[in-house]
Amino acid sequence: MGPRTNQHGGRRAAFFHLNQTHQFEFEYPSDQYCKQDLFPKWHLPMKIASITSLLTFIYTFLRDVIHPFVMNNENSFYKIPILVINKVLPVVSITLLALVYLPGILAAGFQLHYGTKYKRFPQWLNGWMLSRKQFGLLSFFFASMHACYSLCYPMRRSYRYKLLNWAYQQVERRKENAWIEHDVWRMEIYVSLGILGLGVLAILAVTSIPSVSHSLSWREFHCIQSKMGYLALLLCTIHALVFAWNKWVDINQFVWYTPPTFMIAIFLPIIVLLCKSILLLPCLRKKIQKIRCGWDANTETNKTQMTSRL
Ligand code: HEM
Repeated sequence: MGPRTNQHGGRRAAFFHLNQTHQFEFEYPSDQYCKQDLFPKWHLPMKIASITSLLTFIYTFLRDVIHPFVMNNENSFYKIPILVINKVLPVVSITLLALVYLPGILAAGFQLHYGTKYKRFPQWLNGWMLSRKQFGLLSFFFASMHACYSLCYPMRRSYRYKLLNWAYQQVERRKENAWIEHDVWRMEIYVSLGILGLGVLAILAVTSIPSVSHSLSWREFHCIQSKMGYLALLLCTIHALVFAWNKWVDINQFVWYTPPTFMIAIFLPIIVLLCKSILLLPCLRKKIQKIRCGWDANTETNKTQMTSRL
């Protein structure tokens, strides 16, 4: 009887709530409503994405548009809507992806340092760990946009004119075949890796939807989000490395003594992947596993101190 009354009470309350919402829908929301935080877990990822986008945009704009204008009086402003934006998107995407996995590495370092899982993480690390899903989803969003922008490259009129000009110059030089073997391989490989990376990111995004993640066991969810996440980061990093190919040693890439964006883009992912490989070394991996299963270095030392005193 009790639960039934409660159920009716609950229904009445819900109905009352509905009526109330209906009645006050067009009124100014209450003070409490206004103070409610909007998308709290998205604040940090959005701030970082906006700052990284703005800085990368300014950097690329100066290098790819202003530099040719100042040095050769070349008008490259047409590059802004697609070419410049398509440098910003992948840089932000891969940085956000690296930021999904960096806090896990810092947390492992923290636990190894204190030898316990019972010591609380600092507030900033806790907040960062809690917004990893949002970092990942934003990274996927930027990567999808990057893929769309990249695939529309050959559709652009500027590209068609350039292609015609190259063909004309080739005829002038009486060159029959423009095929450059290593360039062909470079592009086939990096585009393929990019598509694979995006595919893995899509799986990660789908499995982070609550209805899907709730249908998985903790082990399955952890396996997908951790192992496949690192796989995505690895694929995207190799994608950028293969895109760079021999540009690493090309002095012309260092416009106004600044490094090209791909070097900046893969700096953080490489650090994250290196740290993860170090943490996978058997001695460290076993210790972390022990700590996460509840082993505590401090109680262990206390125990040995006690037994030595006895
Ligand atoms: C369908 C999937 C993808 C395609 C077709 C693709 C294609 C491309 C292309 C054409 C470029 C050269 C851009 C340029 O000329 O400036 C490039 C660069 C790059 N891509 Fe992708 N990509 C894909 C997915 C991804 C993903 C998932 C990531 C990482 C999250 C990524 C990260 C990068 C990076 C960091 C660069 C170097 C940008 C630079 O600084 O110049 N790409 N990609």
